[in-house]
Amino acid sequence: METKTVKFTNPTLRGELKVPGDKSISHRAVMLGSIAAGKTTISGFLPGEDCLCTIDIFRKLGVTIEREGDQVSIDSPGIDGWKTPDVPLYAGNSGTTARLMLGILAGSKVQSTLTGDAYLSKRPMKRVIAPLEKMGASITGEGDANYLPLTIIGQQLNSIQYEMPIASAQVKSGILFGALQAEGETSVIEKTGSRDHTERMLRQFGAEIETNDNEICLKGQQALKSCDVIVPGDISSAAFFMAAAAIVPESEISFINVGLNPSRTGMIDVMREMGVTVEIVDQKGENGEPYGTVTVKSAKLHGTEIGGDMIPRLIDELPIIALMATQATGKTIIKDAEELRVKETDRIAAVTSELKKLGATVEETEDGMIITGPSKLSGATLQSYGDHRIGMMSAIAALVSDGPVQIEDPSCIAVSYPNFFDDLYRLTGRS
Ligand code: S3P
Repeated sequence: METKTVKFTNPTLRGELKVPGDKSISHRAVMLGSIAAGKTTISGFLPGEDCLCTIDIFRKLGVTIEREGDQVSIDSPGIDGWKTPDVPLYAGNSGTTARLMLGILAGSKVQSTLTGDAYLSKRPMKRVIAPLEKMGASITGEGDANYLPLTIIGQQLNSIQYEMPIASAQVKSGILFGALQAEGETSVIEKTGSRDHTERMLRQFGAEIETNDNEICLKGQQALKSCDVIVPGDISSAAFFMAAAAIVPESEISFINVGLNPSRTGMIDVMREMGVTVEIVDQKGENGEPYGTVTVKSAKLHGTEIGGDMIPRLIDELPIIALMATQATGKTIIKDAEELRVKETDRIAAVTSELKKLGATVEETEDGMIITGPSKLSGATLQSYGDHRIGMMSAIAALVSDGPVQIEDPSCIAVSYPNFFDDLYRLTGRS
């Protein structure tokens, strides 16, 4: 197995960073640009493996998609002009691709089989299939049809009134994409708000969608209008270097054009709560997705409690927040985060086990972790579990560890941040 050794001696991180495009927004831009007839362009697209799988799927459905770096142009016949693919549609490691495609394909006119890698094939799909079946979807697979591979025979769907049992933007978006082709008006009610990129982008593509308090209403059979999408930097990728700047003494990093959608900025709130100075300037893009420049400086951190409505606003940042908490004085309690157990890996188990190998004091709970700091970390050999965010957490840990950190199977980092190590070495003055 490939292993990467990461070692620093008294590092500091300084400078500006433009992180790659937002993963959630990049997927949705390709999806809506392929559903709409005509030409859509995307700038700032994330050329990570997850989003490249999404592009590849639409090419197999007959959509013309060209890409040069982070610039994408789509020329689509529209959803009604797609062809039935003669090979399976491969979603790779990407839960967002799989769950959103289920909704799109269920209401299309094509028949297809959706597959994924070994990790994705163990992640639950019933959470989105159950409401889609209520809308009339035909989705079949081995056993209870909870896991890939799944066969989807496109149908005329009906609208639904659906109360979300869990806070999940993937499930919400799968339903909304099905609803877009359905007869009648769909309403989705969320107890706890999740990221709202789908709702914002549907509006950008000309759909009529109403959102008030916790209810989203979308009329079916609306034609989308192709458009030009600008993708801001991914705050979930920036989060690794935000945490690094916070915990490595004498550090200061400015993140240029990073996404600041309020449904994603929990990391900033938590850092401030823990004693970090975070400054935000140059805010723009109020009509689509807000973004701006965020500066983070190193600080003396103290523990905090994270739970409830805050969790969906920082769900992907919890591994790096846990590492940050090992350097904070006192207890950090993370609760209500049981969704972490069904991510790319069981992130509660993985983070607890890997941080313990470094010498941190971490207790695993059913729905989170309790971290007591500050701990002096030592070097260790850490597993990535094929999970990009565990791999990146391990590399950032090397900045505050006495000895080298060896990361097993680091290639998964390319799922969301292909140039992660280049940026790490540049900011530490090593390139
Ligand atoms: C995502 C939603 C979240 C998040 C994932 C991306 C999305 O998952 O963890 O990385 O793009 O909709 P859930 O919807 O399962 O919470």
